[in-house]
Order: sequence, then C-alpha cells, then structure tokens
Amino acid sequence: MALVPDGVGTLTGHGCDLLVERGAGSGAGIDDAAYQDAGASVVDYDEVCTADLVVSVRDLADRDAAGSPPNFVGVFDPLWVPQKAQRHADEGRCAFSLDLVPRITRAQTMDVLSSMGTIAGYEAVLLAASRLPQMFPLMMTAAGTLAPARVLVLGAGVAGLQAIATARRLGAVVEGYDVRPAAVEQIRSMGARAVELDLSEPGADAASVEDSGGYARAQSEDVAGRQQELLAPYVAASDVVITTAAIPGRASPLLLTAEMVDAMALGSVVIDLASERGGNCAASQSDVEVERGGVTVLAPTDLVSRCARHASQMFSRNLVAFLRHLAPDGEIDLRDDEILEAMLVTRDGAVVHPGVAEALGGSEATGEG
Ligand code: NAI
Repeated sequence: MALVPDGVGTLTGHGCDLLVERGAGSGAGIDDAAYQDAGASVVDYDEVCTADLVVSVRDLADRDAAGSPPNFVGVFDPLWVPQKAQRHADEGRCAFSLDLVPRITRAQTMDVLSSMGTIAGYEAVLLAASRLPQMFPLMMTAAGTLAPARVLVLGAGVAGLQAIATARRLGAVVEGYDVRPAAVEQIRSMGARAVELDLSEPGADAASVEDSGGYARAQSEDVAGRQQELLAPYVAASDVVITTAAIPGRASPLLLTAEMVDAMALGSVVIDLASERGGNCAASQSDVEVERGGVTVLAPTDLVSRCARHASQMFSRNLVAFLRHLAPDGEIDLRDDEILEAMLVTRDGAVVHPGVAEALGGSEATGEG
C-alpha cells in the first residue's frame, strides 16, 4: 500500500484532502476504518481518479475510470518498460517514477529502491532457509555436529547486503561478491567473506565497472564469461546462492549458467532476485519453481509483498518525503531541482526524461515491445 495511516495523517496535517480506495490496505493488514480515523475519505476507484494527484505502489491501474488524474506518482520502471511512460504522456499527465530516485544523500528519505531492496534481501534468505534441507547454523548436538549452511550472495547492493546480514544472523557461513570494488569493505562489514575476482580487461581502469551514479556498468561478453568461469567453484561449494545483480535500465547480468547450477550439490537452493529483467541465473523462471538436477531454483517477484506491513510503512515514508519535496507549500512546484528532474518522466504530453525517451526510441533491451 502506497500510504499507511501515519502518512495520511502527515499529509492531511499539511492541508491535503486524501481519498483512499476502498479495501486498498487489506493486503497490508490495514482496514478502511484506520484510514478514516487518520483523516482520509474511503471511496471507490472512480472517485480516486478525480484527484489532482494519484499515488500508487506500481503503475496507475489499467482500469476504466470516470476521471483521469493530471498528476501521478508511482513505480513504473520506465527505463525498462518505456511504453508505460508513453501512456502517461498520451493522457497528458505529469508522471513521476520513484524508482528513478537519484542515489544522493538529499534523496535518501525518498529512496524506495533501498526500502524494497532491504525487504527483498531479507525475504530471499528466509525463503532459502525454508527450502534448504538443512539448518543454517552450526550445531553441536548429542546426535553429532551439524555443519552450517554455506551461502553465497552475488550482487552486494542494498538487497545483497541485507541478504548477507540476514544469513549471518541465522548462523550461515556467508560469502559475497560484487563487481564494484567499494562493495568489498561493505561485504566484510556485514560479517561475510568477500569474493574478489580479477576480471580486468587489458587497458581498462578499475573505475570502468561503475558509472558516475555509483551503479555497475554492463560488462563485455568476454568479461561476463570470465566472471562465470571464476565464480563456478564458489557456486559449486555453496548450499544456497542468492543473486541480486542489476544494472539500471538494462537486462540483468547472467552470473549462473545452467552448467553451474548442475555442479551444485543435490538439495541446494538458488534464489534469483533479478528475474524481472531476464534473471541472473539461466535456469530461473519468474514465479516458477524449477527443479534442475536436484537443485531448487526460485525466482519470486513478490518477495516485497510477502512483507506487506513493513513494505507499506517504508514506502509510505519515502512517498511522503517525496510529496513534501514536490509540493513544499501544498501546491505542486515543478522547479529546477536535481531530484524532481531525475524522477519526472512525462509532462505536457511528452516524455521528458532523456533516458526514457532514448529507450522509447528503439532499444531492443526493453521489457515489452
Ligand atoms: P542495483 O539493484 O542496481 O544492483 C545490485 C548490485 O548488483 C549492485 O551492487 C551492482 O554493483 C551489482 N552488480 C551489477 N552487475 C554485476 C555483476 N556482473 N556481478 C556482480 N554484481 C553486479 O543496486 P542498488 O542496491 O540499488 O545500489 C546501487 C548503488 O547505489 C550502490 O553503489 C549503492 O551503494 C548505492 N546506494 C547509494 C545510496 C545513497 O547514497 N543514497 C542509497 C542506496 C544505494
């Protein structure tokens, strides 16, 4: 749910009238009465769409409604599915996508990517632990010593680091890997061993793995092949592999080939968090449980929703911070501002975000079309 009652209270305190769709909070355990108590009116979807601004956790629903809101804030991944942006432009809407948040200190309170990554990393470990036919911690029992689970986390951004921390809390022996050199220290600070691979291409400097925003760049086919080769022994020695590697607006890098999965021991578990953009594992399929040679390969796309109460609480805080930035005095103020410019996708009937406009201009690497 995009807004929890606490967020409603903050916004009504700033002079907004809030309309909440009937029953919208039920999946997060919040009933309509809680929204009414916080000061919102609970209404049908048609009426929601008559608002000046509609907020949602994903895209504006593709449902018939009497009204068409002039402003929208959600998470619609326009770099990957730019057709969604085109729809907002065609309908003359000013649309912001929160997943375009710049990773700068000033925008940290609005960073839904970090909020959702934190939950996805945590939930991925719980899922792996529940599917692995052994416990995570080392145990000395009267029936003998039980070895701890060996967990390998590939991609150590927000989700990966949370997966490492969670697996450590459960007592597993954890290794982490990322292409960004800065991740080595972060992995170690979470109590895991950092896997370091020499992927250097002749003539390339170390900085070439990162862009100016601190995100990983896509790698050449040669480097990707070398990465798979060097990762293979670490994968084969792990009971659980959790993959979280992503590159903004691009297909996710392939880190685990089918052969690498085949080399894992019977009963091992792979959790691929990148399947919405093609996946990090060749054997994974979104939301399908794949058994491959006795290895369970899972690629759930609903991990964040499995923790809907905290996900909604975090999303709501991020959203309220963004709305207060967008409308500091209660009126939307589209001023010259690094944060607003980064997240504004459409305005006055046009796609105004340069990256999204470029993606619409014919990239084959998009999710649809
Ligand atoms: P993400 O979800 O885009 O990617 C996840 C991880 O996959 C990244 O750490 C990336 O380096 C890694 N990756 C990409 N290709 C890979 C490959 N071939 N092999 C192994 N790993 C690969 O990243 P996320 O979690 O959104 O964070 C992106 C960056 O933003 C990080 O540098 C993070 O520290 C930084 N950040 C900064 C914040 C701030 O200052 N406000 C807040 C949150 C994150």
